[in-house]
Amino acid sequence: MPKIEIRNLKKRFGENEVLRGINLSVEEGEICVILGASGSGKSVLIKHIIGLLRPDEGSISVKGKDITHLSEKELNEVRKSFGMVFQNSALFDSMTVYENVAFPLVEHTRLTGNEIREKVSEKLNILGLYNIEEKYPSELSGGMKKRVGLARAVILNPEIILYDEPTTGLDPITTMTVNEMILDAREKFNVTSIVISHDIGSAFMIADKIAFLYNGVIIAEGPPESVRKAQDENLRRFLDTWFRKV
Ligand SMILES: Nc1ncnc2c1ncn2[C@@H]1O[C@H](COP(=O)(O)OP(=O)(O)OP(=O)(O)O)[C@@H](O)[C@H]1O
Ligand SMILES: [Mg+2]
Repeated sequence: MPKIEIRNLKKRFGENEVLRGINLSVEEGEICVILGASGSGKSVLIKHIIGLLRPDEGSISVKGKDITHLSEKELNEVRKSFGMVFQNSALFDSMTVYENVAFPLVEHTRLTGNEIREKVSEKLNILGLYNIEEKYPSELSGGMKKRVGLARAVILNPEIILYDEPTTGLDPITTMTVNEMILDAREKFNVTSIVISHDIGSAFMIADKIAFLYNGVIIAEGPPESVRKAQDENLRRFLDTWFRKV
């Protein structure tokens, strides 16, 4: 049974048909990268997977359970299996970095203050962040915010992590750290990951499977080697911008 299975997913906003029949399955422990141009519907797709958006048609199953018609309360239960890294970091501005990262632990565990403190600094340190616990998001650079969002997403060691452009706007070294973190989470905890990206270099480095989203459907899907050789013209145009450079 796939960990996540999306069948014939359709979503429109008024006249704007964004998803026009998405089919995708992701196996346990797999790292699936969804590539696609800006505005192609990647964020809309990932938001359906944690039930932040409801589809017009089709279904999304998580661990064999269709989540499409669940109540908000039932969805909250399902969401405990997920970590989500939002494209805009989505930190709480009125909370410190410490409070942001600790939030899921305070909400969902009975750990003591000291245990929480330890876990928070451990995750921040892995991501190269030191002594920023008492700062507010507005005092951080974009890349730092991104990493704080990442620390918060992985703090409960979730089974499934959804990353919406985790490396966009990061310097090359931090990009590598994030890529290694994604690989590491799979290595150590068999985490299933869906990574949205237009960072083609990172995609080819970490993916077991790449899915290319174009015009509301997935037009190419498979292991990186096969996607790299695929002949679809729109995919070629997208990939060649990168492979011509290297
Ligand atoms: N809540 C919403 N209401 C109306 N339209 C929306 C909503 N969310 C997204 N859209 C539209 O859906 C389309 C796809 O948006 P989406 O954010 O998924 O793009 P994306 O592939 O993530 O792009 P980017 O790479 O720039 O992040 C866009 O035309 C956007 O305007
Ligand atoms: Mg997006």
